[in-house]
Amino acid sequence: MIHNNLPKIWYGGDYNPEQWDDATMEEDLRMFKLADIDVATVNVFSWARIQPSEEKYDFEQLDQIIDRLHQGQVAVCLATSTGAHPAWMAKRHPDVTRVDYEGRKRKFGGRHNSCPNSPTYRKYARLIAGKLAQRYKDHPALVAWHISNEYGGYCYCDNCEEAFRVWLQKRYGTIRQLNKAWYTSFWGHTFYNWDEVVAPNALSEEWAGNRTNFQSISLDYRRFQSDSLLDCYLIEYEEIRKYSPDIQITTNLMGTYPELDYFKWAKHMDVVSWDNYPSIDTPVSFTAMTHALMRGLKSGQPFMLMEQTPSQQNWQAYNALKRPGVMRLWSYQAVAHGADTVMFFQLRRSIGACEKYHGAVIEHVGHEHTRVFRECAELGHELTQLSDKLLDSRVDAKAAIIFDWENRWVVELSSGPSVALKYVDEVHKYYDALFEQHIQTDMISVEENLDKYDLVIAPVMYMIKPGFAEKAEAFVKRGGTFITTFFSGIVNETDIVTTGGYPGKLRKLLGIWAEEIDALLPGQQNQIVMKQNRGELSGTYNCSILCDLIHSEGAEVVAEYGSDFYKGMPAVTVNKFGKGEAWYIASSPDKAFLQSLLAQICKDKGITPLLHAPAGVEVTRRVKGGKSYTFILNHNSEASGLQLQAEPRLDLLSGKLVNGSYSLAAKGVMILEQ
Ligand code: GLA
Ligand code: ZN
Repeated sequence: MIHNNLPKIWYGGDYNPEQWDDATMEEDLRMFKLADIDVATVNVFSWARIQPSEEKYDFEQLDQIIDRLHQGQVAVCLATSTGAHPAWMAKRHPDVTRVDYEGRKRKFGGRHNSCPNSPTYRKYARLIAGKLAQRYKDHPALVAWHISNEYGGYCYCDNCEEAFRVWLQKRYGTIRQLNKAWYTSFWGHTFYNWDEVVAPNALSEEWAGNRTNFQSISLDYRRFQSDSLLDCYLIEYEEIRKYSPDIQITTNLMGTYPELDYFKWAKHMDVVSWDNYPSIDTPVSFTAMTHALMRGLKSGQPFMLMEQTPSQQNWQAYNALKRPGVMRLWSYQAVAHGADTVMFFQLRRSIGACEKYHGAVIEHVGHEHTRVFRECAELGHELTQLSDKLLDSRVDAKAAIIFDWENRWVVELSSGPSVALKYVDEVHKYYDALFEQHIQTDMISVEENLDKYDLVIAPVMYMIKPGFAEKAEAFVKRGGTFITTFFSGIVNETDIVTTGGYPGKLRKLLGIWAEEIDALLPGQQNQIVMKQNRGELSGTYNCSILCDLIHSEGAEVVAEYGSDFYKGMPAVTVNKFGKGEAWYIASSPDKAFLQSLLAQICKDKGITPLLHAPAGVEVTRRVKGGKSYTFILNHNSEASGLQLQAEPRLDLLSGKLVNGSYSLAAKGVMILEQ
């Protein structure tokens, strides 16, 4: 839950005044007032500044920054600065720098560059976190701790390799178990001693980032590196907690970032925070899905939007400006999905190095008479007006999609059947189809309790973890609808195939057997031909990527393939199981199929759209204390006509009562209270 010293949607962001002089900071504070900016994240990359040498710490400048922010009524989200180690540390203790995928020892440079298993890094990260916590724990400006920054990247150094062996011993106990789990009888890989195991990178089992000879080894290395970075986070977390028991602690995540198992991480975060950087052409539903995923990390608890740009990025190939109104629209999109803060990177632009062309609330011109500042100030005033109304409200969804990082790792490490299979894209197809129908959807972990849902979709559920099949069966038995797809139920948690027929442990629930899997060439399609019309579903649709060749073992065949030697074999099945049903979608269908399928299933289940609204209009709902807040966001570049309820409702943003036919301006937003 977000700390309520600041009982409103926090508004502000990353702020780096150590890069400029005092007079500039005074100007910043003046302008923050104009925009109702009330929180600043400081000290994100100041490790070299606050620890100039191994023995010396110097907090004078940070003291001043925090005091002045406080005087200016700006709260502080205090970062620990360990996202980039100082140059002296790299020079004196070479173990802090990483060894990369190609096996090259890195020198000092960049950021997010520390080896997570470096004894030096861990020692000094713990020390700095403890010193900061002791010094600022009672500072009245302090509202949150921000550990490091955007953890990520893997290391393949000798220390990591050593630590990997220890991690493996803990996980498998004996070398025999390890050999079994990894299937090392293949290609003569039997290990007799733990120290024969090496890190899987381009010098050993892997190439091209995600190609590998041994999926099980590569999978475990991903788990291990995610855990190693998590350990670094926990070292700082525990140190801060010792001194600062009541202030929430977070670290900023990156949405669908591939390298870390965020569900595991979130268990150790008081509040999830994340950095949202869509490009101008990122599908709106992809951003929506990512917000939902960040909300799902802690089972629906509100999250912090820690960073977004007010205008443009610098690191994309083409850094388009956010068009007028878009910054406001995307800020409310985050809130609509469960954010309780709206924060930017950054409050003032740097004038040197690679982020000088990254957008900021205060631009290089240095005054408030800019389009970007005006838009930021207007949003600031609105958020002040909203006060605490929306804080801690929840999104209440009946439909959920399962997302699993470990499953994603093995799907994408798999050698065959197709390089075109991308886990996140398959998940997004299902989210998008629900999104377009204004069906509120949660993104959940495989561990989540399914009881509150009526519909659970598990796209490409390739890896079945212990207990999952039973949980899915219980869910369907009591009346739930479960949907899974091709390439599901195939392996266990170490990527070893469940023999006796795909989809393995899901076979009983789905009532099918998948005999073979065909991979389609780029551009090649098969068809999903409905055996008979079924509500919204009728006629023929296209499908691609993979086609499972399945046999019904009790499931009803809803549609068949339309071509190739498996023409006439089932392409879509549904199996009655207890009071519910389990669907199998044997290929990757086109949008039209998924929209019709999910529209029909939602209709059958009584899961109703929040509103009937035109394409490009997003609708979500948050609820709190018997009240509901319906967000209507017009992502279109023209006004969109809406048909609202007959009874007038208060739009919190315009302060007006609205009902009936209504035209929502281009990029416009409404929050209707009920
Ligand atoms: C990330 C980082 C920030 C900044 C922004 C730029 O989110 O956390 O420090 O580099 O990217 O977009
Ligand atoms: Zn390392």
